[in-house]
Amino acid sequence: ELPEEDLHERIRAAKEALGEDLVILGHFYQRDEIVQHADFLGDSFQLANAALTKPEARYIVFCGVHFMAETADILSSPEQSVILPNLAAGCSMADMADEDSVEAAWEEICEVYGVDPQNVTPDDDGKLPILPVTYMNSSAALKAFCGRHGGIVCTSSNAETVLEWAFERARRVLFFPDQHLGRNTAKAMGVPLEQMPMWNPRRPLGGNTAEDLQQAKVLLWHGFCSVHRRFSVAQIEKARSEHPGVKVIVHPESPMPVVDAADASGSTDAIRKFVAASSPGDVIAIGTEINMVNRLAAEYPDRTIFCLDPVICPCSTMYRIHPGYLAWVLEDLVQGRVNNQIVVPETVAAHARVALDRMLAAKP
Ligand code: 13P
Ligand code: SF4
Repeated sequence: ELPEEDLHERIRAAKEALGEDLVILGHFYQRDEIVQHADFLGDSFQLANAALTKPEARYIVFCGVHFMAETADILSSPEQSVILPNLAAGCSMADMADEDSVEAAWEEICEVYGVDPQNVTPDDDGKLPILPVTYMNSSAALKAFCGRHGGIVCTSSNAETVLEWAFERARRVLFFPDQHLGRNTAKAMGVPLEQMPMWNPRRPLGGNTAEDLQQAKVLLWHGFCSVHRRFSVAQIEKARSEHPGVKVIVHPESPMPVVDAADASGSTDAIRKFVAASSPGDVIAIGTEINMVNRLAAEYPDRTIFCLDPVICPCSTMYRIHPGYLAWVLEDLVQGRVNNQIVVPETVAAHARVALDRMLAAKP
């Protein structure tokens, strides 16, 4: 193994050699050793936009996970190459909804509502009986599915705006893959829990009766984030008893009782803004990925900032972007070799772009 400092030197040298040809994007969950090299750091909505703002860069090196790099490839220009330094950086939540299962669910659902799954048309009241919404944390194929069926993509920062958009057009939404973001957002908009049945892809009708589906407003796919589902109400109670006056903020991928028990919830950027708006001396407990929480604690040493989960909880796939991989892809780019390029075939990208463009219009 090489000493870390050598790697950082090599990364800096390769960056300098590539100059304007290169932009490095990094998600807030990246480790500090990567963050220090990023030209732009953001949440998933900001990073999707960032992919559009550097058309002069030939190479977009994406320090994040696979679905984010796919999105950058779809939104960037055809002359640009998007590179994911480690191809094993996926997302377990995104893997919980595969195209075949969603297509099969769509057919079953459309049958219950008596519409053609390939051509869902509005009812007499002018509204579609069902419209698909995918969380950004999903494959390009599922974003394309949404584009083909009048649907849209959302991120954790604009989920409410996106659901409002959807309910202007449709009576119901099929929301995938994250049940928690779907439930938390719909609940905040006043949708009763009885109208949010879960869709379990392994059971007929997703484990529901046809009547449940008739009454539904949001069908929640059976997916979750393995990092955020660890947060619990007990952790919040403990933080409140040990630190009277503590402010608690969690990511909306956390289970509903946790979001309800917190003082606030929001995307990674919203969490950053919450901390930035706090005052010296404040105590803040955060329910999100540990690398980001530790960075905020270091940035604001005059506040007490800690993670709700006492057992370290990194996103293991975000963590797979190691400086060694970054150095390797950059040095090869200097030599004109493009490794780990993420290419979404245009047949998929064209439809996915439709759903992503709708999302980009829905500001957080
Ligand atoms: P945001 O950056 O949109 O808050 O998403 C967090 C996340 O889980 C990314 O995978
Ligand atoms: Fe996926 Fe959760 Fe990691 Fe985000 S934090 S990339 S949702 S596993």
